Amino acid sequence: MYAFKINGGRTLSGQVQVKGAKNAILPLMAAALLTDEPITLHNISYLSDVLTLSDLLTSMGASVVQDADSITIQCSQITCTTASYDYVSKMRATFWVLGPLLGRFHQAKVSLPGGCAIGARPVDLYIKALEKMGATIEIDNGYVVAKGPLHAAEISFPKISVGATHNTIMAAVLTPGITVIHNPALEPEAVDLIRLLQKMGADIQGVGTRTLTITGVSKLHGTDYAVISDRIETATFAVATALTRGRVMIKGGDISLMQSVAETLYPSQIELTQTQDGLLVDATHANLVATPITTSEYPGFPTDSQPLLTTMLSVAKGDSLVTERIYENRFMHVPELNRMGANIQIIDNKNILIHGVSELSGATVTSSDLRGGIGLVLAGLVAKGESIVQRVYHIDRGYHRVEEKLTALGADIVRFKQEKKG
Ligand code: UD1
Repeated sequence: MYAFKINGGRTLSGQVQVKGAKNAILPLMAAALLTDEPITLHNISYLSDVLTLSDLLTSMGASVVQDADSITIQCSQITCTTASYDYVSKMRATFWVLGPLLGRFHQAKVSLPGGCAIGARPVDLYIKALEKMGATIEIDNGYVVAKGPLHAAEISFPKISVGATHNTIMAAVLTPGITVIHNPALEPEAVDLIRLLQKMGADIQGVGTRTLTITGVSKLHGTDYAVISDRIETATFAVATALTRGRVMIKGGDISLMQSVAETLYPSQIELTQTQDGLLVDATHANLVATPITTSEYPGFPTDSQPLLTTMLSVAKGDSLVTERIYENRFMHVPELNRMGANIQIIDNKNILIHGVSELSGATVTSSDLRGGIGLVLAGLVAKGESIVQRVYHIDRGYHRVEEKLTALGADIVRFKQEKKG
């Protein structure tokens, strides 16, 4: 297993490139199942999650061709409509092939994802929506076995789910009649999926509102499409810059996708300037101060940025209350941060109280999930002395060679292989 060794205290400066959002690339790749013509996605980052979904699509008979910056997927010869546990257990988003398979082929067998480190993460909303559209669904040996054909329906989500929104939209675009979805997710990645589908010929009205109206079409066609930039990766480099009092141009960064995060940086006198190239973060005069955070659905503060800001606020002046409203177990990085000298009180599984300290100190810590893991890397960048962050495979799911990007900005971070402990 690989780990990062970080010597903290270096100021970051220069420029770094962010690529297409992981959380957009994955549903966009799944959408390629909806047509027999090629879909080319640009601005691709070869994260391990992207490779996992590529492997799944290939196992189903898709042709997947990867170039430096783009991926072309053609699903003209799908021979298998099963997504096995091997794939779904690695990455929950592989479950999202359910909707497009059912919409186009009227059948799918997809392993249930089960829980994950940050919470139980059920799929009831996906299932109920598909059942409302006429699917017969059985759970057999840990698999969802779904059969169509589907019909149009009016679906109201009692709770906002990004994945259930993606899945239902993909199921509806080829389904005859008018499907109405109330209370869909408005995350920029959900909007990106709709934009791709529209380019493929789908008829979807109400984009960016809480009611989507989808008129099924008989066929979708191939296209090419540039994936929206990664707002969480942008926030990661912004926080890294803030913590180290640096000045970094985040090429491809787009502040309009992360206003709620920007609002938590402004009180600490971190200057954010949007240019044509990207987002310039200037923290040379930063004075980190306590700021309350409550995660919520877009346009609220994203749960995926919570661990980043928790690290930043752990060295800010004063007490910050952080409330997590999306997941029931998203503070796993907190005990590890405390081992680095942070003073964070876990009040319950939804609230932590951060008492800012003047500095963190290096320690060996372990990532238990993607965003918590990168939160520990950020802590290592500013901690005094050497930190080891273990289990970086979690981080590789959402960041492509993050150590190389940080090194180019002046950080002292290396990846190394850890010997197995006896
Ligand atoms: C996506 C993102 C993830 C982000 C999350 C919330 C990807 C690949 N992942 O995950 O990074 O943290 O959105 O912004 O894009 N829920 C149910 N029943 C369901 C579905 C969801 O109760 O059927 C609950 C979940 O347990 C969670 C909440 O709804 O508490 C939101 O989850 P959801 O928006 O579905 O997250 P994902 O789409 O899995």
